[in-house]
Amino acid sequence: MCDTIVMVTAENEMGLDPGKARGSNMCRSLSKYAPVFLVLALSGLIFLLRNIHTLERLNCQTVSTFYNLQNSLHSAFTPEGPSSLYRNQTYCAHLGQEPSPDELLEEHYLLDSISWPEPPARPISLSRTSDPTHSLFAILPAEGGKEWRVGNQMEALVQIHDFQGRPKHHGGDFLLARLHSPELGAGVAGQVLDHRNGFYSALFPLLWEGTSRVEVTLVHSSEAVAVLRRLREERPDRVFFKSLFRSGFLSETTVCNLCLPAGQQPLCNYTDLRTGEPWYCYKPKLLGCNTRINHFKGGYQKHLLTNKEALLFQSGVNIKVAIHASGSNSITVLPEEKAEVESSSARSESVRVLPSGYYFQGSWRPLGEYAMHQFNDSSAITQCLKGKVLYMYGDSTVRQWFEYLNAFVPELKEFNLHSPKNVGPYLAVDSTHNIMLQYRCHGPPIRFSTVASSEMRYVANELDGLSGGPDTVVVLSVWAHFSTFPVEVYIRRLRHIRRAVLRLLDRAPGTKVVVRSANLQALDPEVSLYNSDWFSLQLDGVLRAMFKGLDVLLVDAWEMTAAHHLPHALHPPPTIVKNMIDTMLTHICSQKKKS
Ligand SMILES: *[C@@H]1O[C@H](CO)[C@@H](O)[C@H](O)[C@H]1NC(C)=O
Ligand SMILES: *[C@@H]1O[C@H](CO)[C@@H](O)[C@H](O)[C@H]1NC(C)=O
Ligand SMILES: *[C@@H]1O[C@H](CO)[C@@H](O)[C@H](O)[C@H]1NC(C)=O
Repeated sequence: MCDTIVMVTAENEMGLDPGKARGSNMCRSLSKYAPVFLVLALSGLIFLLRNIHTLERLNCQTVSTFYNLQNSLHSAFTPEGPSSLYRNQTYCAHLGQEPSPDELLEEHYLLDSISWPEPPARPISLSRTSDPTHSLFAILPAEGGKEWRVGNQMEALVQIHDFQGRPKHHGGDFLLARLHSPELGAGVAGQVLDHRNGFYSALFPLLWEGTSRVEVTLVHSSEAVAVLRRLREERPDRVFFKSLFRSGFLSETTVCNLCLPAGQQPLCNYTDLRTGEPWYCYKPKLLGCNTRINHFKGGYQKHLLTNKEALLFQSGVNIKVAIHASGSNSITVLPEEKAEVESSSARSESVRVLPSGYYFQGSWRPLGEYAMHQFNDSSAITQCLKGKVLYMYGDSTVRQWFEYLNAFVPELKEFNLHSPKNVGPYLAVDSTHNIMLQYRCHGPPIRFSTVASSEMRYVANELDGLSGGPDTVVVLSVWAHFSTFPVEVYIRRLRHIRRAVLRLLDRAPGTKVVVRSANLQALDPEVSLYNSDWFSLQLDGVLRAMFKGLDVLLVDAWEMTAAHHLPHALHPPPTIVKNMIDTMLTHICSQKKKS
């Protein structure tokens, strides 16, 4: 996928312009002539599409690496925007150890790979921002006007308009797309390409027969994304932490974070000596830094937005609102036709994207090298895990895996470590089958209720303490608590974890490592500012790049929540968790696909 700038003629634009159809009368009469309009629109769109694809190919080849690097340098270091409220910049990003030249280069590459277009000017009035209700998408017809066949790729073209119905001319809106069939329990996430001119393509592989519907959602307008970006760089303190210090009868509580403004008050420096991961607390007035007892979430800073900015985050208006189809939103897919498949896949190769899997009859089917195995009864799980030790490290989204297995497999008995609820560490054992399951949260930043200081361990250090081997399974999920920080913080954390994974795989080949990606969650105006899916998407891009090419299974929680019909939730419902665990168990216990 690459960034493109596409010239759009007025003619093409008109095709999807709902500004021409303002008012309900116009809408009704439009719908009467919808087929005619659609044909007109589509012929324009097909033309447009050809251009897009040509330009894309051109662009892919001509944009040099040097340009990309420059671009990333620019985006990483140039102060952004005229926000007078918060002038201070990214003060968190480069705290801690100085990155080495190699690390800096990797950081630039990673930041570039997740670069996101910015709207041209701020501040802006709501009426000129992206409005899902005025925006439209159209399903482009199959090549040569033929029927849809399994194995084809389908494309829906989206055009974004503002609240006054005018087409947008820049990119940066955050869209999700899904092709699904409730009757078949089938669903697949679409790949969204930003043409950076107000148009977006959602690409779907056709993987099953029958009738399916396209769903396109505006998660945030480009203008809202710009606000989130500012918060991420300038307000890493918007979730804050605290620690209790105690000695004898004295106790004090102070504020802690990855980075604290220097020079205001004396700090306690809890930078981890092995990884170099920074962590600081304000020094208590009377007690020493070595009297820290625990760590807990302090709270969420409020009043982060101006009144104008707040209008960009309204439930039912511009947070996760569906975009409607111009014409039909459904297609009927016929069985695969052998001869057809080859030519069509060859033709559109340059933009052909495959998801990591899809749902069919409610079960996840990965498109990778493993044929999915379903572990419907606990004895199958016990059989798979016999003689194995599973270490789960991370946030509550992997704690769910521990909880699922612990609840579902009766032979697994939880050992009472007297750990605080929802915090851990947790341990479950099946001594008959020699199975052990462990969960431990990752090091700070972590927004849990009270974690003892002694339990604050970095995943990289924990991995260094494992002997590993073919009977060891390591499951990692580190993403949800990093959304309030600049991406550099996450890059550094994952880099330390990746190095520890490589050391582990090196000293103990055959160790199974499973990485769970980020997932979509329910967003309202408030949650958006701390946990938006846009933050998660950016982190997830880094996560995938970081573990690419390693002998590690990525469980694609992102697509598994994007493709599923159940509402997005930070902690996905049990049926999705089961599919994730089945994916892991399949990896641990099955043979690779024959082909
Ligand atoms: C950054 O700006 C915010 C808002 O003005 C302020 O509260 C915070 O103390 C500043 N941080 C630093 C490091 O200057
Ligand atoms: C905190 O300690 C680390 C490791 O000793 C050191 O590299 C870093 O400079 C210290 N931070 C500050 C602000 O002194
Ligand atoms: C597991 O359960 C699902 C859903 O109930 C069912 O479709 C599937 O056939 C079952 N698989 C096995 C191997 O029992």
